[in-house]
Amino acid sequence: METMAGLARTTMCGEVDAAACGREVVLCGWVERRRDHGGLIFIDLRDRSGVVQLVASPDYDEASFHKAEAIRNEYVVCVRGTVREREEATINPQMATGRWEVVVTELRVLNSALTPPFYIEDGIDVDENIRLKYRYLDLRRPEMQRNLRLRHRVTKAMRDFLDRNDFCEIETPMLTKSTPEGARDYLVPSRVNPGRFYALPQSPQLFKQILMVAGMERYFQIARCFRDEDLRADRQPEFTQLDIEMSFVERDEILALMEGMVAEIFKAGLGKEVVTPFPRISYTEAMNLYGSDKPDLRFAMPFFEATDIVATTDFKVFRAVVEEGGQVKGIVVQGDAGIPRREIDGLVDYVGRYGAKGLAWIIVNEDGSIKSQIAKFLGDEMVRAIIERSGAQPGDLILMIADKAKVVAQALGELRLEMARRMNLIDEDQLAFTWVLDFPMFEYDEDEKRYVAMHHPFTMPRDEDIPLLESQPENVFAKAYDLVLNGVEVGGGSLRIYQDELQQKIFRAIGMSQDEAAEKFGFLLDAFRYGAPPHGGIAFGLDRLVMLMAGCRSIRDIIAFPKTQSAIDPMTQAPGEVSPKQLRELSIRTEEALVKK
Ligand code: AMO
Ligand code: AMP
Repeated sequence: METMAGLARTTMCGEVDAAACGREVVLCGWVERRRDHGGLIFIDLRDRSGVVQLVASPDYDEASFHKAEAIRNEYVVCVRGTVREREEATINPQMATGRWEVVVTELRVLNSALTPPFYIEDGIDVDENIRLKYRYLDLRRPEMQRNLRLRHRVTKAMRDFLDRNDFCEIETPMLTKSTPEGARDYLVPSRVNPGRFYALPQSPQLFKQILMVAGMERYFQIARCFRDEDLRADRQPEFTQLDIEMSFVERDEILALMEGMVAEIFKAGLGKEVVTPFPRISYTEAMNLYGSDKPDLRFAMPFFEATDIVATTDFKVFRAVVEEGGQVKGIVVQGDAGIPRREIDGLVDYVGRYGAKGLAWIIVNEDGSIKSQIAKFLGDEMVRAIIERSGAQPGDLILMIADKAKVVAQALGELRLEMARRMNLIDEDQLAFTWVLDFPMFEYDEDEKRYVAMHHPFTMPRDEDIPLLESQPENVFAKAYDLVLNGVEVGGGSLRIYQDELQQKIFRAIGMSQDEAAEKFGFLLDAFRYGAPPHGGIAFGLDRLVMLMAGCRSIRDIIAFPKTQSAIDPMTQAPGEVSPKQLRELSIRTEEALVKK
């Protein structure tokens, strides 16, 4: 193999242009493709900026030509050559540098490469495990390079904005105590304290609040968080938050500042203008209208309620639901009256996956006539009343679900999204931001048979709801907010409790004894007794935000080294086994080891 000695790169492949024409350049990169035309060899050379065509021939340089004959895809080379304009017929309009090529006068092969398991190009159809195993090749692909660079620009814009607004970036520990964000902890055994464990932070929540007591007033951190939960396309066991906390502020000041930051990020990252302020919707309204606390507002299709209309029906399915305190709700799919019967049957299966026991439909034909399998049960009058309530017009389809409120919200919410996809109602270029405000303070945990904090137990309840803490916890709403973009929760935060007495009340409401609270968060409660300022904050899911900006479907595509759905890294093979010696040092005995004995 050769070295670069005496050759210094002058130009990036993607930057070869009219200005470089006629000049001598030195380029470095990887061989994307090599085409042998006998006396002429064409090489597409790739670096992080793009691709340019090289031409080698014995007429230009004999030695280079022979080396070019032997090189293969993904070999690393350095070339000296002269840029020339291609002949009209050979111009490649698909390629940014397609008007030019570089005539090779010196070629050095810096390294060879095995045949890669997939092509290094965009839009490949390769099993994700293979991509992750060979992540260094996957990341060589232009779309992955673009994603990581976008991520860099986004974090840079965040830092610039926050710095300009007097925020201070502070690191908080990775080896710490459990933070209450509702997921399972990743634990790290302590060697010097046998039998004791650190928890990796689910978020820097407790530390950022303590930093407010410490008088930092405006903190931020691009923080790695760890949550051992079931993974999905938008969830990773370790992920990154832009974590923010401020003192002496009210909610609306935080929201306005964050809107300004988000607008700046989109401008810096994508050159896109974001309209501020963002619309706001309460949690209750979002659930009523869209069945979700993260509604996709790129299209309308709100729910309508027909529970009261059908309350007196003899149709046993609806009647039973109403009598048990359930709901009958529906959506209108505009212009879908022509839906084939078998597609409706498919929809019944679709909602079934989300727990719905059936799906009722009413077709309002263009001529105003009505077709519905439930008309014979409900009678004309009720059907007319439902159509009127729904706002359906001739040519529309009404779909309805009767069930417990929770099932209606989920199944009808998913159906709303599915129908929007089928009817092509989603404009992929649109940015539909919305704040979701006033979350319930608590939710009932059926397994544990007690209330748990919906956000986390340091969230401030609304002032007017504080008297209800003991008597009606289900009616207490919190000063909490989420930022939703195109149906994805990209951020969430709240104003915090800063008075000990109120904090104790919340712990009591979630059935946490004083001892337990002291054991878990005693350090925070202690800190609060030394002059805690009013404070609040927010954390953005950086991976999710960049995923949406990049137009990706999975956060794995904007994380350099993500884990699979089963929390494995196919490249490093983590998690791995450890030696008995390491376990002994940590005073740990695994069940596996006991079985082997
Ligand atoms: P929360 O738990 O809502 O709030 O998290 C904030 C944001 O982080 C993102 N996120 C995730 N992204 C990828 N993978 C995951 N497993 C994952 N879990 C969460 C989401 C979410 O909106 N301490 C509070 C914030 C605060 O109150 O200031 C917190 O962590 O986009
Ligand atoms: P059944 O009497 O169970 O045959 O139901 C009559 C019609 O009502 C069928 O077409 C079902 O699809 C519909 N249906 C049944 N259960 C529900 C439900 N929970 N919500 C909406 N429609 C339902």
